Amino acid sequence: MKIAVVGTGYVGLVTGTCFAETGNEVICVDIDQKKVDKLTNGEITIYEPGLEKLFLRNLKEGRLKFTTDLAAGIEEAKIVFLALPTPPGEDGSADLKYVLGVADHIGRLLTDYKVLVDKSTVPVGTAEKVYESVARNAKVPFDVVSNPEFLREGVAVDDFMKPDRVVIGTSSDRARKLMGELYAPFVRSGNPVIYMDERSAELTKYAANSFLATKISFMNEIAQLCEKLDADVDMVRLGIGSDDRIGKRFLFPGIGYGGSCFPKDVQALAKSSDEAGYDFRILDAVMQVNEIQKLHLLPKILRYFSGNLQGRHFALWGLAFKPNTDDIREAPALYIIDALLEAGATVTAFDPEAMKNVQQVVGDKIKFAENQYEALKGADALIIATEWNEFRTPDFLKIVSNLKKKVIFDGRNLFDIRAIGELGFHYESIGRRP
Ligand code: UGA
Repeated sequence: MKIAVVGTGYVGLVTGTCFAETGNEVICVDIDQKKVDKLTNGEITIYEPGLEKLFLRNLKEGRLKFTTDLAAGIEEAKIVFLALPTPPGEDGSADLKYVLGVADHIGRLLTDYKVLVDKSTVPVGTAEKVYESVARNAKVPFDVVSNPEFLREGVAVDDFMKPDRVVIGTSSDRARKLMGELYAPFVRSGNPVIYMDERSAELTKYAANSFLATKISFMNEIAQLCEKLDADVDMVRLGIGSDDRIGKRFLFPGIGYGGSCFPKDVQALAKSSDEAGYDFRILDAVMQVNEIQKLHLLPKILRYFSGNLQGRHFALWGLAFKPNTDDIREAPALYIIDALLEAGATVTAFDPEAMKNVQQVVGDKIKFAENQYEALKGADALIIATEWNEFRTPDFLKIVSNLKKKVIFDGRNLFDIRAIGELGFHYESIGRRP
């Protein structure tokens, strides 16, 4: 099938590449000429494990193309995906200017029936707005479908190729048939394609992310309580997670959720809910807990250094909001850096992928190390903010020989408390006994 993907950000590039991988002819459209040139020349613009190989193969075989020309890009496409940014506006609601702008433009270009698909995370009612924007100028029939994505950064290719489910929101049989054909190769293993109306599909995306964020904030509160009651959150996690109704996944406490999705989507759902005249109380609590949790290590650090961090130097392992990405949007590490600098401390950080991005934000306010051990040199303590695999089983002798003192504050519960205690470390983590 011939398809177009408008927007070559994270979602657009993964979507375009993965559809090309199953034999479709895909043209990706973006207004950014430099980006289009890079992609056309085989230079991938995002870091996502496994994507580059697929991207290069499909580019080489001519199934994946890039252009800045919207008219040429969508001309032959049967299905046009809109994977455009929906940044939060000042009031927290998703700003639809890019989506509706492109919809308006497409309306002027349509010459035959096409299905337009909202892939971006958009508030309930957006499919109708897109329909209206296109309809203002369109002279041929078309349909608008809501098809939210459930990709996790770091495993997006796998999530796309083998989805737990595909949600398709449409009231048109014609669109439903085309979308079903396109997704058939991805659900051969029997996972469902769930058809529903557009509004329910739009809400499904927000509900899924908000529910997962709720799970995390709930566990972070249980962790806080464990610290007060002298219990161990790891034990509680195992104890409750083995109940299928609760599930083992997404029960890991830490220093809060970050990234480009959960913070934005929880906020946007709370806002939509407000606008609909419903006070979604749980969501307010989820956001509040997350704000507190991002800085949960700080009181522990302050307590250890008798309330004064002036002149102290810290090693920081991990900057990305989670492992296997260079994404630092809403990353807890950034909040920790700000708090440490504010308190008069200095920081040397190491992250396998995200240092360049952080440098662009903080400039020379902190130092960056070549590797995880170099970051430790002369530091009063090590702080861990991201659970990269390479931090999980470090060479503790090297840690000891580089750190000034054997002190670790771990925001991701990476180490076995007993083992690290035996090595003589002062070790504090989240919801576990020091
Ligand atoms: C999330 C969802 O998991 C995807 O299904 C969704 O498609 C995506 O948002 C999106 O809307 O685009 P992502 O933001 O890539 O994906 O990252 P996750 O792996 O879900 O992690 C989100 C945050 O939760 C991270 O900061 C992570 O550290 C935190 N987390 C996750 C915990 O603190 N504890 C856990 O047990 C799990």
